[in-house]
Amino acid sequence: MKVVSIVGARPQLVKLAPVAAAFAGTEHQHFIVHTGQHYDADLSDVFFDGLGIPAPDIHLGVGSGSHGVQTGAVLSALDAVFEAEQPDWVLVYGDTNSTVAGALSAVKMHLPVAHLEAGLRSFNRRMPEEHNRVLTDHCADLLLAPTEEAMGHLANEGLAGRARLAGDVMVDICLRIRDAVRAGEHAAPVLPEGIDPSRPFLLATLHRPDNTDDPARLAALVDSLARLPLPVALPAHPRLVARAEEYGISLTRGSLHAGRPLPYAGLVAAVLASSGVITDSGGLQKEAFLLERICTTVRPETEWVETVRTGWNALVADPHLLSDEKWAATVTRSTPAGDAGTPYGDGRAAHNVVKLMEEWKRGSRLV
Ligand code: UD1
Repeated sequence: MKVVSIVGARPQLVKLAPVAAAFAGTEHQHFIVHTGQHYDADLSDVFFDGLGIPAPDIHLGVGSGSHGVQTGAVLSALDAVFEAEQPDWVLVYGDTNSTVAGALSAVKMHLPVAHLEAGLRSFNRRMPEEHNRVLTDHCADLLLAPTEEAMGHLANEGLAGRARLAGDVMVDICLRIRDAVRAGEHAAPVLPEGIDPSRPFLLATLHRPDNTDDPARLAALVDSLARLPLPVALPAHPRLVARAEEYGISLTRGSLHAGRPLPYAGLVAAVLASSGVITDSGGLQKEAFLLERICTTVRPETEWVETVRTGWNALVADPHLLSDEKWAATVTRSTPAGDAGTPYGDGRAAHNVVKLMEEWKRGSRLV
């Protein structure tokens, strides 16, 4: 079969790596379309190089824009690609604007669509990712769910007939890179200036529009990080850097030290070197869990509820409303006792994805 993967943003490249490797071991043809949603080398090229992903077969170069402009640009560019390639499958990943555009374009051309990481829900309609994942799930023919929780959400929306439990491909890649980092196969990460990796430090990231796009909120969150009693390494996403500059907020002050985004192996190494993680990223919440570091999530809710249930992750929507002592105690709390199990699967999710796509038959869509 011929499968076209649509990717465009950093977290999709991480998920693409194990999927591309799994397809490489089969007779199937795997074709990669990069939408160009992320275009900085730090957010895109280093993931292809660092994770051994084959270069994209097509690059659409859509770049940034408002949600409608960005989504529309991908949508209008894909018709010609699908027309030329005539794939047996279109595979979309996660919840970005590139995901929903890929799914919508394919379904309108009557091409079977598989959605990797289907069924996640935050139930927060302010998040662009929530619109994207709900719409994509309702478009797609095969819903590849990472967890039982996700399977439950799909069933609640009447989508059980199209849903299959695949496991989470991020386990495949995260554990592989963890082992390579421990074996010394990757150079030490370039941490922000002022961070000494041999001494305790926290690793933080912030990029969600709800946290970055309101000047008062961003200033309060940055203050909360700067006031912590431990040094905080902040590999800064371009959205964060752009908004902070616009609002005149300095990202390096007090305990806080900002630097460039990290490549994937660098991020894994930084999590392993850290005492804990503070983030609003979905992927990093799970990486902290898999790498056994406590995580504090600066959001009112999470899609990855297993990380909270097992005690590895705590939600703190408004750290600036806590006392300094309480905030510091939360981000430096001790690790939970007990076995957290393997709610995200056993690290063979990418092979399951290939198998489930092979098994699917046209017309098997039940609802
Ligand atoms: C996107 C995804 C989000 C994902 C995140 C990971 C959507 C709606 N959001 O958010 O789900 O968690 O990627 O990084 O699809 N920019 C650059 N260089 C780049 C890319 C972006 O400078 O290579 C800047 C631009 O100013 C742009 C802003 O970052 O306006 C936001 O980029 P965009 O792709 O719209 O969303 P992200 O915030 O990256």
